[in-house]
Amino acid sequence: MDAAVLHALGKPPRCEQFPDPIAGDDEVIVHVHAASLKPIDKQLAGGSHYASPHDFPLVCGSDGVGHLSDGQRVFFGGARAPYGAMAQRTVVRRAFSFPVPQEVDDETAAALPNPGVSAWLTLAFRAKLVPGENVLILGATGVTGKLAVKVAKLLGAGRVVAAGRNQQALSTLHLLGADAIICLDASAKELGEAFVREAGQAGFQVVIDYVWGSPAEAFLAAITRKEFGVITSETRFVQVGESAGPSISLPAAVLRSTALTILGTAGIPPRNVLVDALQKVMAHAASGELRIETERVPLADIENAWQRDVQRRRLVIIP
Ligand SMILES: NC(=O)c1ccc[n+]([C@@H]2O[C@H](COP(=O)([O-])OP(=O)(O)OC[C@H]3O[C@@H](n4cnc5c(N)ncnc54)[C@H](OP(=O)(O)O)[C@@H]3O)[C@@H](O)[C@H]2O)c1
Repeated sequence: MDAAVLHALGKPPRCEQFPDPIAGDDEVIVHVHAASLKPIDKQLAGGSHYASPHDFPLVCGSDGVGHLSDGQRVFFGGARAPYGAMAQRTVVRRAFSFPVPQEVDDETAAALPNPGVSAWLTLAFRAKLVPGENVLILGATGVTGKLAVKVAKLLGAGRVVAAGRNQQALSTLHLLGADAIICLDASAKELGEAFVREAGQAGFQVVIDYVWGSPAEAFLAAITRKEFGVITSETRFVQVGESAGPSISLPAAVLRSTALTILGTAGIPPRNVLVDALQKVMAHAASGELRIETERVPLADIENAWQRDVQRRRLVIIP
């Protein structure tokens, strides 16, 4: 079969022949219709992800949409290594295949779950967003950040402030429900002032961070108090991505002067939580409330596609 085959970390995969998978106990063969190319696919293959592989050759791609031998159309994840989603066929545990509503097209069904479920779980499961709470999204102009703005509103957030760099993208975020925007392309001083202004008296109860690096530092500096005071607002800061940098400097004063909790997102939540989030995201996709911009790319072009810098939409690989 044709597959996006990776031979070593740091090299793009190539479209090559790869042996067909054979299903074991509790596994199913998926005839793949589409698989999205996500930041995590590049991080894994580039060697920068904590879960980067060690054994080669392998097929790239962590999730996608296809049909089972009985014809059922499913979203799937977690192909058994060395198989992956970017191939004509793959093999997954039956428990990792989920029916797709007929209203959701293949491109959306392949591309939306990773960023959409991530945004949903980050807000609902990790941040435990309570309706009415104020939310700041750092990196709101990205594929996942845009979905997080919309998901925050769907979950009943109060004020949602969206921060990003790209002006054109920032100018569209009110359509997703953003109440205010902050441009991250500013000096640390200007950025700090913007965070203070938009936090207002009520503050941000939830921050979803897709960027880390200097914007996260500027935010933490902005909420650091300079005097003793009664706690009026707690902030749950959830770390999800590192588009602006892999590390920050974290002065102790940030943690000693504020009621800040920094939360991680690694790992897979309990199955019932994951399935519930996936079903909700697919239902909102079926109703048209959650959308994702996609671009179809034939599997044969994977080597070029892998090296393209694509902003604000997902490439969807079609085997
Ligand atoms: N752990 C998970 O479950 C999970 C799931 C999804 C995403 N993520 C991670 O979250 C991050 C964003 O994902 P995505 O899908 O939204 O990616 P994306 O579509 O490529 O968006 C990247 C975002 O980061 C911003 N950005 C890039 N470089 C920056 C810089 N130097 N300074 C400030 N902002 C910068 C972009 O802003 P502009 O476009 O405005 O320049 C944009 O908002 C990635 O690190 C990804 O791996 C993690």
